[in-house]
Amino acid sequence: MFDLLIRNGTVATASDVFPADVAVKDGVIVQIGRDLGPAAETIDASGRYVLPGGIDSHVHLSQPQAPGIVMADDFESGTRSALFGGNTTVLPFCLQEKGRPLREALTAYHALADGNCYTDVSFHLIVSDPSEAVLGQELPALVEDGYTSFKIFMTYEDLRLNDAEILATMDCARRTGALVMVHCENEDAIRYLIGRHEADGDVAPKAHATTRPIAVEREATHRAVSLAEVVDVPVVIVHVSNREAMEEIERARRRGRKVIGETCPQYLMLTADDLDGMDWEGAKFVCSPPPRDSASQEACWEGIERGVFDLYSSDHCPFRYDDPHGKLNPKGRESFRHIPNGIPGVETRLPILFSEGVMKGRIDLCRFVALTATNHAKTYGLYPKKGTIAIGADADIAIWNPQATRTIRHADLHDASDYSPYEGLEIAGWPTTVVLGGAVVVDNGVLTGHARAGRYVSRGRSSLAGSTRP
Ligand code: URP
Ligand code: ZN
Ligand code: ZN
Ligand code: ZN
Repeated sequence: MFDLLIRNGTVATASDVFPADVAVKDGVIVQIGRDLGPAAETIDASGRYVLPGGIDSHVHLSQPQAPGIVMADDFESGTRSALFGGNTTVLPFCLQEKGRPLREALTAYHALADGNCYTDVSFHLIVSDPSEAVLGQELPALVEDGYTSFKIFMTYEDLRLNDAEILATMDCARRTGALVMVHCENEDAIRYLIGRHEADGDVAPKAHATTRPIAVEREATHRAVSLAEVVDVPVVIVHVSNREAMEEIERARRRGRKVIGETCPQYLMLTADDLDGMDWEGAKFVCSPPPRDSASQEACWEGIERGVFDLYSSDHCPFRYDDPHGKLNPKGRESFRHIPNGIPGVETRLPILFSEGVMKGRIDLCRFVALTATNHAKTYGLYPKKGTIAIGADADIAIWNPQATRTIRHADLHDASDYSPYEGLEIAGWPTTVVLGGAVVVDNGVLTGHARAGRYVSRGRSSLAGSTRP
């Protein structure tokens, strides 16, 4: 007797699409086939796609950004929103405070997350202070404990590392087999441009985009892949926004380097013109790197199609708009420089790619699964426990109705922000039922799960980045 049987659906993995029933026992997929026998609970998935639950490997929850600024989503609301968007695992960041041990940050983030998640979660570390103690003792021990990836920044005054620090952190990754993710923007160039804009009194949200032009991202991307080459370590270039940064990734790959590229919905769907709205509305679209133009959108779609990008993540980093602790904080109303960076998108990530990518014929269903689940699991050491429909894998499943049509309205979403950057976008296809660890947690659009259902997942080392050679 199975616990759950999903019948008559079309199953898709990163490599195959086939009609099959999926049987679940004790939270794990135990059989895939036909006439599998009785189950305590049966779902009829006729006319539906049965896909691995989405894995969003780039999410910010309860992460401080500046004094007085509060992130809209905590672990409860952020993972609830993720779940409704067809995700079963999210990877938020655990931010090291400068001068403080990483363990201290982990204790704090675990206290926030544990018992408060609707999806499974696993943390990346943000290394803001790569001291000898951190790189020599703390990080190697944490990698052994299953914290196998860390993000470093080339921008943001309080987070940026210099080249020596980047090299030292990458060397720690080389020694420990961890994976480094890099935010590539040249902080000094941005500072210079901010100075010029402020001197001209050009302080509206749009200036956020003009002070972070493509050259700033291209230069930093080139430097990041070059420093990784010097150290001889794989690297993930996160949230790539344009063709020139993509070309740096492709050039490095042609030199034999293992470089993993990530892009996000904002670079496919938004442009810098969105930052130009009336009454400071452009603040809703302030994120870094900024959205570019239609040519960059087209380039990023090409990257999705051709494999420049292995990962498609949300970079969900939500701040309320009409809120003194959010986008319209008192200083943020005076200058773009004080508008918190980041936009919501964990719930709309998958429907946008499904609708704009699969339904419009840009990518097939296998590529969709790879970009949204399988590659995240492989890159970040969760595979094959997660990221695929296979015997022995966790029963984390999203059942999609390709016939469902919806218009994105923030009022229908489940995050704690007060807007969606994609308000009004027409979507074809939606994940209507979600199964987490064998339990139905969203049933035809109705929440049946709870915030204690999500578990913390310790990770192994990356298999996608297992070698510096492609
Ligand atoms: O603007 C953004 N992307 N904020 C989130 C932090 C980051 O850089 O990923
Ligand atoms: Zn970033
Ligand atoms: Zn981010
Ligand atoms: Zn508030």
